[in-house]
Amino acid sequence: MVCHYGTDLKEMVEKVKRYTKDGQVANYIPALSKANPDDVGVAIFDGNDTCFSEGNHRHLFTLQSISKVLTLALALMDHGEDVVFSKVGMEPTGDPFNSIAKLESHVPSKPLNPMINAGALAVSSLIKGDTNEEKLERLLHFVRELSGNKQINFNQEVATSEFKTADLNRSLAYFMKQHGVISGDVDVLLDFYTKQCAIEVNCEDLAKIGYALAHHGEHPDKNYSIIPYEIARLVKTFMVTCGMYNASGEFAIRVGIPAKSGVSGGIVGAVPGGVGIGLYGPALDDKGNSIAGMKLLELLSAKYHLSIF
Ligand code: DON
Repeated sequence: MVCHYGTDLKEMVEKVKRYTKDGQVANYIPALSKANPDDVGVAIFDGNDTCFSEGNHRHLFTLQSISKVLTLALALMDHGEDVVFSKVGMEPTGDPFNSIAKLESHVPSKPLNPMINAGALAVSSLIKGDTNEEKLERLLHFVRELSGNKQINFNQEVATSEFKTADLNRSLAYFMKQHGVISGDVDVLLDFYTKQCAIEVNCEDLAKIGYALAHHGEHPDKNYSIIPYEIARLVKTFMVTCGMYNASGEFAIRVGIPAKSGVSGGIVGAVPGGVGIGLYGPALDDKGNSIAGMKLLELLSAKYHLSIF
C-alpha cells in the first residue's frame, strides 16, 4: 500500500468536520459535556516510528466503552474463556448499549456480550486484584504497554462525575447480582468500572493500541506478545459483531474494520495485519458513536481498501 496518509488525512478531516453539527456531545456523564463538539482528530500507526495524524489528535479524552475491549482481553488472560463466557455471552444485540431489557427477557439472565454495559460490568468484576487500586494498576500497566505510553492515567474528575450519576449501570449491576452473574459490593465494582472508563488517551495512543490488536497483541518495539494470539483474535471478532453497538451491522458494511467506540467520542480501529487507527470526535449520533469518526473511517476504508470483507 502506498502511504499518502499525511496529505490525505488533512483533506479527510476537513471533509468530515461538517458532520459534527448533526451530533451532540454526551451529557449523561456531566464532565463529558465540556467537550468541544467541533473537534475532530485522527492518528494512524503503521508500526514504524511515526504516527500519521491530523486535527485534534493530541487532545486527551477518556476511553469510556473502548476500555471494554481491554478489560475483556485482560479478563480472558486472567481466567480463560470458560470462566469469562460463563458470565457473559457472545451474541450481538439490537438494543442500546445501556439497555436492561434483555437481562430480564433472556434466560439464563447473563448479559448478551461484553461490549454492552451489563456485559462490561460482568467482565470488570473478573479482573484479578485484591483491591480496586491493584486492579486499576494492572489495567493501566496493560494500556501503557499496548500504547507504549507510560504517562497514561485515569481522569479523576470524569470518573467521579460518572460514579455520581451511574444509576442505570448500578441497576444493571444489582440485577446481575440478584441473578448470580456478579457478586460483591456493587459500588466497589462501579468505582473500578468508572475509573476504567476514565482512562485518558489521545488519538496516537489509540492508534498504537489498535495496531497491537491488529497484530495479535504484538508491539513493534517488543519481542513478546502483550495479548495472546487467540485472545486478540477473539477480541477483534467482538469488535466486528458488537463494537459499534446497534450500528455494528451497518458499520461492517460501510467500513468493515474491527472497531470500538466510546461516548467521549473516541474510536479505535484495528485492521488485521495492518494499521491501527485512533479517532476522536465528541459529537455523537443517537447510538452513541462519533459521527465524524465513523465518516472518517468510511473514507479511510474506501481509499485504502481496509475492509476485511
Ligand atoms: O458506562 C457508560 O455508560 C460509559 N462509561 C461508557 C459508555 C460508552 O462509552 C458507550 N459508547 N459508545
